[in-house]
Amino acid sequence: MDQEFVLRAAKLREEINYHNYRYHTLDSPLISDAQFDALADELRALEAAHPELITPDSPTQRVGGAPAEGFAKVEHPAPILSLDKASSRAELLAWHTRISKLLPEPALSLPKGLAYTVEPKFDGLTVVLHYRQGQLVLGATRGDGLVGEDITANLRTVKTLPLRIPADPDGPQPPPYLVVRGEVLILLKDFDALNARLIEAGESPFANPRNASAGSLRQLDPAITARRPLHLYAYSIVTADGPVPETQQETLAYLHALGFAQPDEIAFFQDLDAVADYCEQMIARRNTLPFEADGLVVKIDDLATQAALGVVGGRPRGAVAYKFPAQEATTTVVGVEFSVGRTGVITPTALLQPVPIAGVTVGRASLHNFDFIAERDIRIGDRVLVKRAGDVIPYVEGPVVDVRDGSQRPIVPPTTCPACGDPIVHPEGEIAYYCINAACPAQLVQKLTYFTHVLDMEGLGERTAVQLVEQSLVEDPADLYFLSKESLLTLEGFADKKADNLLAAIAQAKDRPFDRVLAALGIRGVGTTVAQVLADAFPTLDALAAAPAEVIASVAGIGPITAQNILTWFAHVHNRAMVEKLRQAGLKLAAESKPVVAGEQPLADLTFVITGTLSRPRDDVKAWIEALGGKVAGSVSQKTSYLVIGVDPGGSKYNRAQELDTPLLTEEQLYALAGTYP
Ligand code: IVH
Repeated sequence: MDQEFVLRAAKLREEINYHNYRYHTLDSPLISDAQFDALADELRALEAAHPELITPDSPTQRVGGAPAEGFAKVEHPAPILSLDKASSRAELLAWHTRISKLLPEPALSLPKGLAYTVEPKFDGLTVVLHYRQGQLVLGATRGDGLVGEDITANLRTVKTLPLRIPADPDGPQPPPYLVVRGEVLILLKDFDALNARLIEAGESPFANPRNASAGSLRQLDPAITARRPLHLYAYSIVTADGPVPETQQETLAYLHALGFAQPDEIAFFQDLDAVADYCEQMIARRNTLPFEADGLVVKIDDLATQAALGVVGGRPRGAVAYKFPAQEATTTVVGVEFSVGRTGVITPTALLQPVPIAGVTVGRASLHNFDFIAERDIRIGDRVLVKRAGDVIPYVEGPVVDVRDGSQRPIVPPTTCPACGDPIVHPEGEIAYYCINAACPAQLVQKLTYFTHVLDMEGLGERTAVQLVEQSLVEDPADLYFLSKESLLTLEGFADKKADNLLAAIAQAKDRPFDRVLAALGIRGVGTTVAQVLADAFPTLDALAAAPAEVIASVAGIGPITAQNILTWFAHVHNRAMVEKLRQAGLKLAAESKPVVAGEQPLADLTFVITGTLSRPRDDVKAWIEALGGKVAGSVSQKTSYLVIGVDPGGSKYNRAQELDTPLLTEEQLYALAGTYP
């Protein structure tokens, strides 16, 4: 291995980790996104060519490694305890009175008396992070408080989690071994965006940020975790083999200096009354917090005093959880409503005896899916606990079983579609129940609006979609392209101009790129982002339709379930017919891969040098570059425009390119630059 590569990779890792920290944790980037991407691209290219250069703290590892079989058990260096609760000012004062009697000598001699740090009590998942020589070596879940599970691969994907500390090279040097405790959660703004994305992809949204975080952290496939917007706040040092701060306030500042994110809502007081005032203010402001918190943690600031106060009944005396009033209530399930989503998924919603929760009257609540109903054994007529979290739709948490009187009836999944009456199917191994009738009107309206939304067809909203479906003018979205003006004029409110405008908008949306068309098909799991990934790997729709599931699933970022959904979709006669109609209408069913036309020279005036093995014979690539107007040289010089890096590149060309600041391209980037491939 060339020493140059090793050094360059180390330098890139350090720079990328630092800029990542500036961007995600400090929210204060120093370089542009494009500059950041260039660094990341260079590191990826280097690592692709020399996999032995990949280190555990490499930022490229944040995308998630290979799926795990299960999680190994990890013993925590110190148990994770629960906290005593206080729910009012009086209870907070009572806690204080209790511990005051026990205060050990050192506390009484503290120069300024007792002080308190107040932090949010994050409603996420506790994690324990082990750093050796500044490198993250192990990350574990809380588990039972004594033994957790090794989820290091998943935690590496959390962007606000420093893989190396200090994240800023100018930060403090941590002790050789440092164990930090914190909480992984999803910020409310990211949660909304995540759910919107899931819904768009035809998947079920999460009930609340906590479920989303839990589901994401315990994923066996870290690539899935990597797509979830997880966030870390660190709040304590569990153990260290060197000096660390002596107070909680200094600990937070120290953790911040090492590169861990901290919330804005941290307060420090020297007087318990001020603590109580602050807690009351925070209750009033709880809905303005950018994350979910179930209360505040009031901690004795001096850590030696905290430790000396000891633990009773598994709860440390030196801290107390000041709980926010619950945003929940119990009420009765009076019925269940089933609705059909765009992808045919049947969703159950509980109809409730209306009940006020934190100022809002709640009459309906999500039941998520039928597995959830079975798992919690929720029945019609049950008294249930309903929760509201932030601005999220209320959901049923579970039944109060001991007040059942025998009149309760189980919730049975429907056997026929509530919208079209066709039989419902429940695929083996899947949670969902589906209506797979491609002509189901409930799905059709939503499919149409989704189709027109993804393809940016202006002027065709839900109202028009309903009209088209009701008048049987379309049976699937492809029929839009075959609408006649006469038929549109039969719709209520459609005059000459409106019909013309609509037809023009439909025609205009014919030139949307292939990946958009692919997304618009409405295949479960294939939203706009996944469609882009697929379109890169399968340049034509026919290639995708013909690909076996394993081949589709081998594409980075595509899981086996999505691969199977794609297969199932193309197996459906009606869907294949729709594709043919789209083809006939002239939509783009292939990526822009212009054949080399005489006179078209996208690589004119560019000189390339190739190093390493490419996916196609080098002579073919060379001839292709030349046909597109480019030149290919044997060695890097001032005249070289790009060095194209394949697998196992040679050191001399690479080093020369580094000296001359020659831009690097991967094979894929070369094809992207040309807008076509050989
Ligand atoms: S410190 C001595 N601080 O709440 C103090 N815990 O009931 C020990 N939690 O699972 C706990 N936010 O992980 C502390 N700012 C915070 C916290 C926090 C959430 C969790 C903690 C534990 C539970 C304790």
